[in-house]
Amino acid sequence: MAEKNQLNHLAIIMDGNGRWARKQGKPRVAGHHEGMNNVERITLAADKLGIKVLSLYAFSTENWARPKEEVAYLMNLPVRFFDKFMPTLMANNVKVNIMGYLDQLPPKTYKVVQRAMAETADNTGLILNFAFNYGSRSEITSAVKELGGMIESGAISSEQIDEEMISQRLMTAKFGAFRDPDLLIRTSGEQRISNFLLWQLAYSELAFSPKNWPDFNEEDLQEFVSEFQNRNRRFGKVDESDS
Ligand code: IPE
Ligand code: IPE
Ligand code: MG
Repeated sequence: MAEKNQLNHLAIIMDGNGRWARKQGKPRVAGHHEGMNNVERITLAADKLGIKVLSLYAFSTENWARPKEEVAYLMNLPVRFFDKFMPTLMANNVKVNIMGYLDQLPPKTYKVVQRAMAETADNTGLILNFAFNYGSRSEITSAVKELGGMIESGAISSEQIDEEMISQRLMTAKFGAFRDPDLLIRTSGEQRISNFLLWQLAYSELAFSPKNWPDFNEEDLQEFVSEFQNRNRRFGKVDESDS
């Protein structure tokens, strides 16, 4: 029997909040509220499963195009989330990271996310990494710009640019050996990436749940993780048993 895959970095596209709410005859933002509560449940479950980095896609650079009221609600979610769950996060030694274009956030949201990162900075357990105002093409573009500047100034030649130099300039660089997700789960039945971690997902396993995010529970997570552990990750090579 092949050894089980190690799940260090799990990424989730938390999709389907709006549809969850509509199904119950509620406004879309009721789905975001329930989705927020589910973040706590899944974070604790991920921690119990021994996951080291949990990346949650919470707001994309494209989500600004939603109705003003919905955007305002989503921008206020970090305020409510950390207000409610910070004691639990501290008690569980969870370290918070927020990756995205944070300087574009409303001042109140900016302050709250910075404070959450500062307060949990010395925690050594699970890294809870929110992608908030995050877009992968922008992220890669920023990395390319930085390298371009280094060429312009004569610090490097274009010939020196390699994959490692690009990886090091992405927002996930700080996770070191765990910077690329091992598994990506998207809820709500959609099967697309929607500008999430394009570079980092090169060899991630992909999984899709038909459930909307507020309904995706600990047992679902457990099932997806077990299924992942038994997959055959080849990274372009041939099976060991086949060589
Ligand atoms: C995911 O749920 C949360 C965000 C993108 C902020 P949606 O709000 O996209 O829910 P659906 O896809 O419209 O059901
Ligand atoms: C992706 O969901 C972004 C988040 C979950 C935060 P969307 O609902 O915005 O993606 P599309 O529009 O269906 O591709
Ligand atoms: Mg959606």
